[in-house]
Amino acid sequence: MLNVHTRLQAWQDRIESVLDDVLPPGQTHPARLHEAMRYSVLNGGKRMRPLLVYATGEALGIPLDHLDIPAAAIELVHVYSLVHDDLPAMDDDDLRRGKPTCHKAFDEATAILVGDALLTLAFQILASHPRMTASPAQRLHMIEQLGQAAGSRGMVGGQALDLAAVGKELSEIELENMHIHKTGALIRASVLLAAYSLDAMDAQRLQQLDHFAKCIGLAFQVQDDILDVESDTQTLGKTRGADEAAGKPTYPSIIGISASKAKLQDLYDEAMNALVSFGESADLLRRCAEFTVKRIR
Ligand code: IPE
Ligand code: IPE
Ligand code: MG
Ligand code: MG
Ligand code: MG
Repeated sequence: MLNVHTRLQAWQDRIESVLDDVLPPGQTHPARLHEAMRYSVLNGGKRMRPLLVYATGEALGIPLDHLDIPAAAIELVHVYSLVHDDLPAMDDDDLRRGKPTCHKAFDEATAILVGDALLTLAFQILASHPRMTASPAQRLHMIEQLGQAAGSRGMVGGQALDLAAVGKELSEIELENMHIHKTGALIRASVLLAAYSLDAMDAQRLQQLDHFAKCIGLAFQVQDDILDVESDTQTLGKTRGADEAAGKPTYPSIIGISASKAKLQDLYDEAMNALVSFGESADLLRRCAEFTVKRIR
């Protein structure tokens, strides 16, 4: 069996090719919009959410080709969220994944439409892509879950809380609630969508995976906040110090950097505990958790 690192890399290559396949070809009408969609998606993202879909599938014995379209759908929603997050009306960032943000490389109206098109494409492929193997009932379950995770009670709701919080002092509870929504929701959906490709699943195992997902979903944004303070623009591929410059409440700004790191470690430990009963089948999920807290970008 190949080592964990090689296998994660193979999954990364795999999702690149699935994304390439589900996106409209660049030259097709309307070409500028399609070029901008491809520019925003196929540009070196870490693909953490697709990797979580595949790793959850492995823990549950689901074949990879059953997971390609759910993994791609979540990455499309994630990229849409980044394109809109970077707009002047939101975080006003110029750099994303080491390149000019979509609205800088194209224009603001195009960036809005790229987000709209990626979001709708995600639901379209879950509903009807020929590589989608799940039954109609499973697809419906996935579509419902992704809609909930992406919408006003999930990611978009978290983004609304984030914008309303600029310049404010949040309590730690309020900050956690914001992070659980803006980032945790889609990470949780990555694990749940994989599980929903099974016809039936033991409720206790599902609950354990869900708990794992909630812990690393929050941990992912805690580390994002820490990296905004401690990393550098070149490594991050986005402008370091953007949170402080914009007056965003973050884990480091509210509880300090060392308490933020302690929080990260607690979440990691809790995530690992949730996987105990899965044994070796969850080794790649464990690696995803490790990556969440140790990543440098
Ligand atoms: C950045 O997400 C935005 C957050 C939700 C923290 P990622 O760190 O996963 O960004 P990419 O996809 O690798 O660019
Ligand atoms: C990410 O929050 C949340 C979403 C994009 C949904 P951030 O605003 O912290 O993400 P980065 O730091 O710009 O990637
Ligand atoms: Mg933001
Ligand atoms: Mg941002
Ligand atoms: Mg950030």
